[in-house]
Amino acid sequence: MSELNQIANKIISNGKGILAADESNGTMTKRLTAVNVESTPENRLKFREILFSSESMKEHIGGVILYDETINQTTSFENSIPDLIASSGALPGIKVDTGAKNLANSKVEKITEGLDGLRERLKKYYELGARFTKWRAVYSINDKYPSNLAIHTNAHALARYAALAQENKMVPIVEPEVLMDGDHSADECLNKTSEVIQRCFEELILHKVDLSGIILKPNMILDGNKSKIKISNEEVAQKTLECLKKSVPSEVPGIAFLSGGQSEIEATENLDLINKHNNTKFIMTYSYGRALQQSALKEWSKNTKDKVLTQNTFNHRAKMCSLATKGKWSKELENK
Ligand code: G3H
Repeated sequence: MSELNQIANKIISNGKGILAADESNGTMTKRLTAVNVESTPENRLKFREILFSSESMKEHIGGVILYDETINQTTSFENSIPDLIASSGALPGIKVDTGAKNLANSKVEKITEGLDGLRERLKKYYELGARFTKWRAVYSINDKYPSNLAIHTNAHALARYAALAQENKMVPIVEPEVLMDGDHSADECLNKTSEVIQRCFEELILHKVDLSGIILKPNMILDGNKSKIKISNEEVAQKTLECLKKSVPSEVPGIAFLSGGQSEIEATENLDLINKHNNTKFIMTYSYGRALQQSALKEWSKNTKDKVLTQNTFNHRAKMCSLATKGKWSKELENK
């Protein structure tokens, strides 16, 4: 087993998943403003420190993805944030892309940037304690999109990023996210997501990326959020498995889904059903941002000095997601 494979397995094995706390300052400002909390570096740190020192970090969180601001911050106990995370047994990770920008010659599509100077930034992040990284590509979906251009350019960037991350001894999370925005059907999502993932692997192989040392972070197969038809959670699980079975090479150790705007319960239930039916050798777990943090953030905003209720809320969500990785979640457990 390669060192990268060991790191990947440590992050996602034994009912653990990933806490995606890598919202950029812009995104975090939106989230904090929505609950009437001022978005300052201190407040962003306070909330994140509460999550990172929660009890569930030990049992249910194998890795935390950080944003550049956070990885450089110091906790109220004068610890570095990577040290705080590592003290629970989880691994610190870092988002290294610099965001999705307008793709030239395309009206609506995006290309994720951040390759310039990446090698040097990766070295700095490794020294700060990061052992894995994340790069997110986003794809619009409708009858015209994603275009061949968006599929090709993003796959190329993801592969160059992944190769550089591995060169610097860090596991790359490869995140091609087909957005849920639109009125498309789940079958369209299945076809387009399969194509996007397959093209990513073609590029990863071309760039000689060690597939046993990556984690894939895809969307689940869903109807568009404006679609009149809604498939059942069972169908979401079946279609998601169908997509991954035909698109992901067997060397990949695991898949950690994004929540992508699903509610906390929906993201948990779908993951649970995927695992109840999982007849692949892939570990299927979570790398949730909103679906792990939403209720905790709401709770915290009621009284930013009280960390107990916020941690209880986060612990519960992390426990439910962890049960879902084993196919052992049920609705009744949500109310216990
Ligand atoms: O890149 C996306 C985030 O890491 C996951 O966030 O679960 O809220 O979609 P999400």
